[in-house]
Amino acid sequence: MPGISVDRRALLGTTAAAALGGMLTGFGTGKLSVPAASAAEPGYRPFYGKYQSGILDRQQAHAVFAGWDLHWREGSKKDQLRAMLQMITEDAARLASGRGVLADTEPEMAQPGCELTLTVGLGQSLLDVAGHGQIGTLPHFAGDQLEQQYGQCDLLIQFCAQDPTVLQHAVRAVSKNLRGLASRRFAQTGFASPGVHGFRNLFGQLDGVNNPEGEVRAEAVFGQPGWIENGTTLALRRFEMDLDGWDEVDTAGRDHALGRRQADGSPLSGGSVDDPVDLAAVNGLGLPAIAANAHVALARPGSADEVMHRRGYNFAGQASGLLFASYQRDPATSFIPVQHRLAAADALNTWLKPVGSGLYAILPGVAEGGYLGEQLQM
Ligand code: HEM
Repeated sequence: MPGISVDRRALLGTTAAAALGGMLTGFGTGKLSVPAASAAEPGYRPFYGKYQSGILDRQQAHAVFAGWDLHWREGSKKDQLRAMLQMITEDAARLASGRGVLADTEPEMAQPGCELTLTVGLGQSLLDVAGHGQIGTLPHFAGDQLEQQYGQCDLLIQFCAQDPTVLQHAVRAVSKNLRGLASRRFAQTGFASPGVHGFRNLFGQLDGVNNPEGEVRAEAVFGQPGWIENGTTLALRRFEMDLDGWDEVDTAGRDHALGRRQADGSPLSGGSVDDPVDLAAVNGLGLPAIAANAHVALARPGSADEVMHRRGYNFAGQASGLLFASYQRDPATSFIPVQHRLAAADALNTWLKPVGSGLYAILPGVAEGGYLGEQLQM
């Protein structure tokens, strides 16, 4: 692994360099030196590991998905990318263990015990710079009304935590250190209250019920073929929901559009929330119990290759909706065909407006002393 020979101040820009103030002990050697908090500490999600945190682990209550576009300076883009990833690694390791970043102006806001995770992904543009990996970008889907402010970025960090203040501090601390290196395009805030059976989305539905569990989840997310060992991909889509229009729909209509009952998440084919969706089941009239265009009928994976792990969040404000986020080893066999099916015919589409879309290569996990992206061998 080559050392970093370029001048760091020139590389990082004055703001970031001033903030760092030459305090990063490991820069130039490629070795970083943030000690790990113990995984046994309450409320600590391990930062170091084979995989990044914030993917297979239980969904926290709050999230921010932040996207940046990089600024390039004279010189090697690989060096700039590597230095940026080293800085992010250092920041993320500190924040995840409840400490402020170097030269933090509000270190009091960093708190342990909040299950903070930072999950870092690169757009295809940065994989091209690294000269490693191919995930492509998401195609246009029927009905997309995409807004540039929520579009594909070079860099994406999913921040999640149980405490919204600690979370916002982490987003701000990382964003300050990235100033001069990159412009932040979005910071999309989300919330969810996960229970035993997923969380309630803003339509009132239990969402995330039929997510893969255990080994099946791990295989869908980190199995091969993937773009890199121990890495995965994140599809991030922002759907505005027409909640006023949804108000006009009665219980039967709502349940029909989803294929499950809003009240308790049970499939219309019968049984309770834990029972499988049976698309062959018929109702008393001999008609399919679950309509062919119901959301779950179309979303249901047709094979093991189509399985994805959903980890979405609600958002509310001027507009309300769902930040759909799914992790999958190969979007070409899973997310993309499923999203095409849904975009073409999903009964829920009447009340959905897709305004944001992006695909990111989630880097493998990092070992203590290493940095995110070192497997790219830049
Ligand atoms: C705002 C948009 C969306 C809403 C409100 C929504 C809501 C739901 C709900 C309530 C369920 C049933 C409970 C569950 O199993 O989680 C579900 C299932 C599912 N959704 Fe969505 N969803 C949305 C978008 C998407 C998108 C974009 C995809 C993928 C391209 C997707 C994929 C799935 C899958 C794979 C299932 C499980 C199907 C099964 O095997 O039973 N959803 N969704």
